[in-house]
Amino acid sequence: MLVNKGFLIAFEGIDGTGKSTQLQLLADFLTARGCEVMVTREPTDGVYGQRIRKLYTDRSRCTPEEELELFILDRKEHVKNVIIPQLNEGNVVITDRYYYSTAAYQGVTEKDIQEIFKKNSFAPTPDLVVLLTMAPEVSIARIQEGRGEDLNDFEQLDQLRFVAANFASFTESCIQRVSASREILQVQAEIRRIVMEAFINKEYLCSE
Ligand code: TYD
Repeated sequence: MLVNKGFLIAFEGIDGTGKSTQLQLLADFLTARGCEVMVTREPTDGVYGQRIRKLYTDRSRCTPEEELELFILDRKEHVKNVIIPQLNEGNVVITDRYYYSTAAYQGVTEKDIQEIFKKNSFAPTPDLVVLLTMAPEVSIARIQEGRGEDLNDFEQLDQLRFVAANFASFTESCIQRVSASREILQVQAEIRRIVMEAFINKEYLCSE
């Protein structure tokens, strides 16, 4: 689906790449430049998002088909209640994960990734996807050491290797890959450059 006003940026990548940090730094930068920025995330805090979070500790509570369905239902709400209204206002929407996560994560068990993309055709195509890349071994070490957290059921190494391979296979033109295994500010500088370039290419002006 295409929406012409506003500018939709999705941050994607395996767990532990520093997505949320980079996303927030970008949002601060764009706000300081006069953009109206809405930061949002998936899974959302809505009813379906809450049900998804319960799966973090035990994914076997539902079948892979039910799991996929929950992510789609959560996204339908997100698109209708947040993404479309914000884009219609002409704002920059930055989402922490979007349908590429479903294709990459649920694609591990669902196999037919094109089918997953089809099920997401209701969702506006992002103007830009910032795909943070990193070796799964490194990202897992970051989660365990950095956050002092145990791995949730979506974050196990074998699983993340498949997820990373799925992310690596996507060829859509809106995707820009950024290596996340560098200094935070180096990564951020590259992201800002990519975003500014994308604004120019799409003739998007923040403050009018
Ligand atoms: P994450 O961004 O880590 O959220 P939180 O900060 O709440 O932990 O996402 C949670 C997990 O959900 C992550 O491991 C990826 C997974 N996920 C999917 O499997 N499919 C999806 O469509 C989305 C949006 C997330």
